[in-house]
Amino acid sequence: MTARLLAFAGSARRDSLNKKLARAAHAGATAAGAQATFIDLDDYPMPLYHGDLEAASGMPEKALELRALFLESDGLLIASPENNNAMSSLLKNTIDWLSRDVGDGKGANSGLAPWRGKAAGLLAASPGAFGGVRHLPHLRQVLAGLGVTVVGAQVAVPKAHEAFAADGHLADERVAKQVRSLAEAVAGLAAKLRA
Ligand SMILES: Cc1cc2nc3c(=O)[nH]c(=O)nc-3n(C[C@H](O)[C@H](O)[C@H](O)COP(=O)(O)O)c2cc1C
Repeated sequence: MTARLLAFAGSARRDSLNKKLARAAHAGATAAGAQATFIDLDDYPMPLYHGDLEAASGMPEKALELRALFLESDGLLIASPENNNAMSSLLKNTIDWLSRDVGDGKGANSGLAPWRGKAAGLLAASPGAFGGVRHLPHLRQVLAGLGVTVVGAQVAVPKAHEAFAADGHLADERVAKQVRSLAEAVAGLAAKLRA
């Protein structure tokens, strides 16, 4: 069974290193036979989560669009920037909106529906020496709380501003191989969980 994966970065920045890493993971998933889609969170702007806003207008339109893509997917490849030892506010805000109930909150309307039963693989890229690895345990915990099975392997790319060639591919074949193997593991797990 072909797994449907979404690859995205927790950064909206045009030249985001994590977008480059998410694209590499997307390519790896495609090579592994998955039906993978790269999405750019910059195409899904949403306000900072606010309970009064939600009570007055419900889930923002772009969050609903993104939610629909999550519902159709079996797994996620998330390249997550590290800000102050934590995931980016963009990624957390996206998770927060997409974990809210819509409508009657039942079945596919549940806040867990976009997450529960899916596989995920985590990556991080940073110009720093640790590659953003310090926040990944927390991201793992957040996703596990939503019912996502996060594969054990993860990839953090230090000095990431030097890691990508002009055409976007990872210059270090050892790191490129880690990304391919993570994408393959997520595709395999996602297919199993879907079945
Ligand atoms: C507010 C802020 C806090 C940051 N904190 C960290 C950090 O804790 N660890 C780290 O490795 N990099 C940190 N950085 C550097 C980011 O990892 C770097 O800007 C990275 O390129 C952002 O991801 P992007 O290229 O995908 O946009 C921080 C950057 C900002 C703006």
